[in-house]
Amino acid sequence: MTLWPRTLLWRSVLLIAALLVVAHLAWLQIFRASEIEPRALQAARQLVSVVNLTRAALVTADAGRRFALLDELAQREDIQVYAGDPAESVPPLPDRPFLRIMEKQLREQLGTQTRLALERNGVGGVWVSFRIDADEYWVSLPRSRIERNEPLRWIGWGALVLALAVIGAFLVVARINRPLRELTRAAEHLGRGTPPPHVTEAGPTEIRTLARTFNQMAADIQRQDEERALLLAGVSHDLRTPLSRIRLALEMLDDHGAADLKSGVAQDIEDIDGAIGQFLDFARPIDAEPLAADTDLNALVQAVVDRYVRNRDAVRFTPAPLPQRPLRPQAMQRLLGNLIDNALRHGRDGAEVRTGCDGQTTYIEVLDRGPGIPPADTERMLQPFTRMDRARSTSGTGLGLAIVDRIARLHGGIIKLLPRDGGGLRARVELPSAA
Ligand SMILES: Nc1ncnc2c1ncn2[C@@H]1O[C@H](COP(=O)(O)OP(=O)(O)O)[C@@H](O)[C@H]1O
Ligand SMILES: [Mg+2]
Repeated sequence: MTLWPRTLLWRSVLLIAALLVVAHLAWLQIFRASEIEPRALQAARQLVSVVNLTRAALVTADAGRRFALLDELAQREDIQVYAGDPAESVPPLPDRPFLRIMEKQLREQLGTQTRLALERNGVGGVWVSFRIDADEYWVSLPRSRIERNEPLRWIGWGALVLALAVIGAFLVVARINRPLRELTRAAEHLGRGTPPPHVTEAGPTEIRTLARTFNQMAADIQRQDEERALLLAGVSHDLRTPLSRIRLALEMLDDHGAADLKSGVAQDIEDIDGAIGQFLDFARPIDAEPLAADTDLNALVQAVVDRYVRNRDAVRFTPAPLPQRPLRPQAMQRLLGNLIDNALRHGRDGAEVRTGCDGQTTYIEVLDRGPGIPPADTERMLQPFTRMDRARSTSGTGLGLAIVDRIARLHGGIIKLLPRDGGGLRARVELPSAA
């Protein structure tokens, strides 16, 4: 699992928050570095006066009052004074800038023999030595006198800064992200083919331009869809109506010995009508038909095959048990019709239809004994308006297999044009068994 978030929102929030925290830490570091020296000087000044006062008191007090004086210092000021030995050693100071500056200052003001320690004889505190003649004495103060010991408070402030940084970053990025999210939702609608909601055209120039362009594009697509629907209705009415009038007139016409001519014209009319049908199928919005819940695919295939059989076409059907699944029945019938038409047109003795199921996939196969399609050309034949060499067939639009391909993909499946054992084409549509 990776901790790096996937959404733009959280990535930007993290980046900005990290940036703010780093900037804050850097700033803190600069502040601390510039503040160390004044603080060390002030602490040293305090120690110097403590030592000077203590030494003066010791020197001037008469011998009898000295103990009482030391006692009072210890009780009132928490300052302890001990006799020491110049030869004794104390643990060295930790190497910190603050302590180094302080030590240097003490030596300058109290004499070079002055020693500073944070521990003596195992007792912690601030220890400063001073001399009275050749004797060494040590003054000890609690460390809190010179040090600010509050790392916990810094951690608390740090956490607060981090929280504020994340919240601030979230607010900033969420503002930018909101129009983007709206746009994404609208684009998803467009991708599914449903009319997208109007995107708010507000905010900074770039976002506004993007929203306006998107709205314009969505409106254009919508208008094109409407125009296409209009065109379809027009074609179907304006071409097919006169066509059926011609067909009717032809039937009422006397032969006058031109029976061949008449049946030729009738065939041409059928072809034109078929081509118009293909154009309409191809241009029709693909997902206009709703999904019908659990449908029996075998019954559907049987109905289509029966239609051909009634028409005296040699179509044989071998069903196998299939799971039911949601389908678009009209689209499925069109798919099957296109494949059977091809098999009848290009094959020699009719078409064979099979269904089957192997676990995840349900398949329908339409087989014939025609010339087949070379594997190198199958991909091309699925494109609209492509056909093999003209010599093979005289009529046809080249849309049949493109429509089959579309309908198969609409159902989450694919069409495979395979060579059949023993010659011919094996057109196989594979659908996922569950939708
Ligand atoms: N069963 C088949 N056997 C051999 N060739 C086929 C078969 N089905 C289709 N084809 C080839 O693929 C081409 C494209 O088919 P199709 O898209 O249905 O268009 P159309 O049938 O209008 O020509 C056909 O022109 C034909 O050359
Ligand atoms: Mg065809």
